[in-house]
Amino acid sequence: MQLKEPINEFIEYLYPNSSEIILGDTLYQLKKIEDEKFDLTITSPPYNIGKKYETKTSIEKYLKHQEKVIKELVRVTSNKGSICWQVGNYVEKGEIFPLDIYYYQIFKRLGLKLRNRIVWHFGHGLHARNRFSGRYETILWFTKSDDYIFNLDDVRVPSKYPGKRHFKGAKKGQISGNPKGKNPSDIWEIVVKDWESGLWNIPNVKSNHPEKTAHPAQFPVELVERCVLALTNKDSWILDPYSGVGTTAIAALIHYRNSIGIEKEMDYVELAEQRIEKLKEGNLKLRPINKPIHQPKPNDKIARIPEEWTNLLQEV
Ligand SMILES: C[S@@+](CC[C@H](N)C(=O)[O-])C[C@H]1O[C@@H](n2cnc3c(N)ncnc32)[C@H](O)[C@@H]1O
Repeated sequence: MQLKEPINEFIEYLYPNSSEIILGDTLYQLKKIEDEKFDLTITSPPYNIGKKYETKTSIEKYLKHQEKVIKELVRVTSNKGSICWQVGNYVEKGEIFPLDIYYYQIFKRLGLKLRNRIVWHFGHGLHARNRFSGRYETILWFTKSDDYIFNLDDVRVPSKYPGKRHFKGAKKGQISGNPKGKNPSDIWEIVVKDWESGLWNIPNVKSNHPEKTAHPAQFPVELVERCVLALTNKDSWILDPYSGVGTTAIAALIHYRNSIGIEKEMDYVELAEQRIEKLKEGNLKLRPINKPIHQPKPNDKIARIPEEWTNLLQEV
């Protein structure tokens, strides 16, 4: 008992902000939250594709319900605030329905302004047979007003050619880039090669991404971190209305922001709480932000044409 207190104080010093995960239904719980509390809502809603946590319904019914949720989200967003909505495709008998196209109409009707349609690209996943394999999802970033928080300097990435200079005009000879790095653009490739096995939930494929839990559709922390840093300030409040295993809460704590998550599955709430505890104990494995994506070397076994194919190609 004597020993514990100073340690707890130290933990609070490391992660002083609040993180609450509420067990319950999003629409019901949102109604209890005061207006304009959050500078950022970031989430990946259920896609209505029949994952174990959702009951598949028609796309019309699904969107009608989601519009009620989004109306509440707009109400709880501050005037300088943003909503980041990460979605992929709804699939019906091999036909794809890009959910961002449908969601855009809803947000626009509610008066929000789209600032970026971020393409989150990943190099691996399921191989389609009757169409090209899907390799990206999108994040729609909306703001409530024209006067919104945007901390570009906090998310700049290293320039490819920092020594590049203007070669003509008034600035000829001067360095053309920014010493703090370049704008990360609206195409994000921030996933390691083995992340997608988790994203696509392929049975029997054991993902070895350092952050993977039992959740079938978990965000990488790094994806949330970039939005947290760019779109909120220290001590801002952040909401994830479909919080899964608490990825948003982790990104918020690391960067000194407060967060609330809402999640209807007890198992995921428990996993989220365990991850938060592990973070506070210093035992949560995370992939560092902006770590380069693994590229196999030409001589790595995985990058070489397998012997079976060499023989086949010789026969042709
Ligand atoms: C795509 S996952 C989000 C995963 C999350 N981004 C993470 O990194 O763990 C969607 C989550 O929404 C939850 N969910 C679905 N419908 C819900 C509802 N009506 N209320 C609360 N949570 C819900 C699901 O259980 C699931 O965990």
